[in-house]
Amino acid sequence: MGAGIAEVLARGGLSVVGVEVNEDALERGRGHLETSTGRAVKRGRLTEDAQREILGRVALTTEFADLGDCDLVIEAVPERLDLKRTVFAELDRVCRDDAVLATNTSSLSVTDIAVGTGRPSKIVGVHFFNPAPVMKLVEVIATVLTEPDAVARVAELVKGLGKTPVTVGDRAGFVANRLLFGYLNQAASMLESGHATRDDIDTAMTVGGGLPMGPFTLMDLIGLDTCVEVLDAIYAESRDRRHAASPLLRELVTAGLLGRKTGRGFYDYDRSAAGASETAESAADGPKPVVGIVGVGPLADAIAALCDRAGAEVRDSAARLAGCDLVVEAAEDAEAGRALLSAAAQAAGPDAVLAVTSADGQVIEQAMATGRPADVVGLHLPDPAGTLAEIAATVATAPGVADRAAGIAARLGLTPVRCRDRAGFIVDALRFPYLNDAAAMLGAGYADADSIDAAMTLGCGYPTGPIADLDRLGLDRAVAVLRALHAETREPALAPVPLLTEHVAAGRPLR
Ligand SMILES: NC(=O)c1ccc[n+]([C@@H]2O[C@H](COP(=O)([O-])OP(=O)(O)OC[C@H]3O[C@@H](n4cnc5c(N)ncnc54)[C@H](O)[C@@H]3O)[C@@H](O)[C@H]2O)c1
Repeated sequence: MGAGIAEVLARGGLSVVGVEVNEDALERGRGHLETSTGRAVKRGRLTEDAQREILGRVALTTEFADLGDCDLVIEAVPERLDLKRTVFAELDRVCRDDAVLATNTSSLSVTDIAVGTGRPSKIVGVHFFNPAPVMKLVEVIATVLTEPDAVARVAELVKGLGKTPVTVGDRAGFVANRLLFGYLNQAASMLESGHATRDDIDTAMTVGGGLPMGPFTLMDLIGLDTCVEVLDAIYAESRDRRHAASPLLRELVTAGLLGRKTGRGFYDYDRSAAGASETAESAADGPKPVVGIVGVGPLADAIAALCDRAGAEVRDSAARLAGCDLVVEAAEDAEAGRALLSAAAQAAGPDAVLAVTSADGQVIEQAMATGRPADVVGLHLPDPAGTLAEIAATVATAPGVADRAAGIAARLGLTPVRCRDRAGFIVDALRFPYLNDAAAMLGAGYADADSIDAAMTLGCGYPTGPIADLDRLGLDRAVAVLRALHAETREPALAPVPLLTEHVAAGRPLR
């Protein structure tokens, strides 16, 4: 991170002094700088002259005393409070009295670092994201002791470097990690509880949640040891058990399976990952299914449209349900859905799969009402215009029925994933708690809507920010899903936050 930050500063035209512990480390740092700027030259984004100028602006040293003339010092040593305090004591001694001292910590308290120095008013956090030359977000952290001018100067400097500063207070995880890691840990718990497989959760969040990568791919990339460290730091402050690192994560770390950097974490990087898509393709082959749709409304229309696109026959009259491979109940509410599916269950052939879409609690309740629960699965399209189909098997679903449902979904051009019969299936169960956390942050005044959205888009590569997501998905839907999750788990943090229920009552979006 130190080399990346030095590059960003030098590219911005500033003179930089880089300090390392010894000559070897210094050479490694020089190597990072040369490789990174060299890559930019190869891609035609930087001329050789410009590269030479950038490298010429960085003086490398092992002497802290060489920092004596600096206006700003950014510390990026390993994430240990004792080490950071030692480094800051040294900086305090050698730097000018008016110099601002910043830490790039991801999860330690900036205040804890500040109070160990003789100049707490000049200590800020500047949290760059990895890789620093690429990622546009920089969280600027002000403690209660920081003087406003020091924060303003650092934020201004960050802007001058072409980055987007988001200025927030000193809370564990700041904005981006606080929101991201609760979600990542919940995905790990979901896997551990057997709710769904690693591959299905990752697929659900990319295909259905629109994210650039799934939670297990991302945790492997971050490093599972780092994930546990960040979660521990957030838990120490939040005391929210959702931040208590999943035992599965700890077990992997203890076993030395830290993710990409050790060749294995949730995934094994020595083996090819090509197999998964091959099976998905072969599942999509075969005769087009005949689909019965009972119920009317936008979801019924969306399912009929996707059947049309796939060239599958749709039957929507009760008299013609015999011979259907799949009968989907797509009523607007669960009460109507129950009655419709029970009637359809009588009319459908013995080999038909019956799919419930309108469960507002568990699928099993609807399934029992049909009189043939062995043939019933839950079906959820988190985005009716998208291609993900979540299929939930209940304890009463017969072996093989969910497989048949997944096969039919694949032949309809959908990407099927499987899970157990729990509120929110996969996508909604993971995204709405994250969105609720973002609304809580907004409601508590920790950060404004623009800052929260910028943190997730520019810091984590999300296509859209959580506040925008809430308005797009609908606050009433968010409240309904969160209430179902809360009713099922009694987890206090899953109850919709007052800001959401207030906006729903007022009929107003968050923005
Ligand atoms: N890696 C990331 O994705 C990431 C992202 C954002 C923030 N951070 C934060 O940045 C900091 C550094 O992380 P990293 O991943 O670059 O760590 P790293 O271990 O890769 O690098 C730390 C460097 O600090 C040097 N160092 C150790 N003690 C020193 C001392 N006393 N004086 C000078 N240099 C010293 C080490 O030689 C090493 O080169 C941490 O606080 C981390 O939380 C990391």
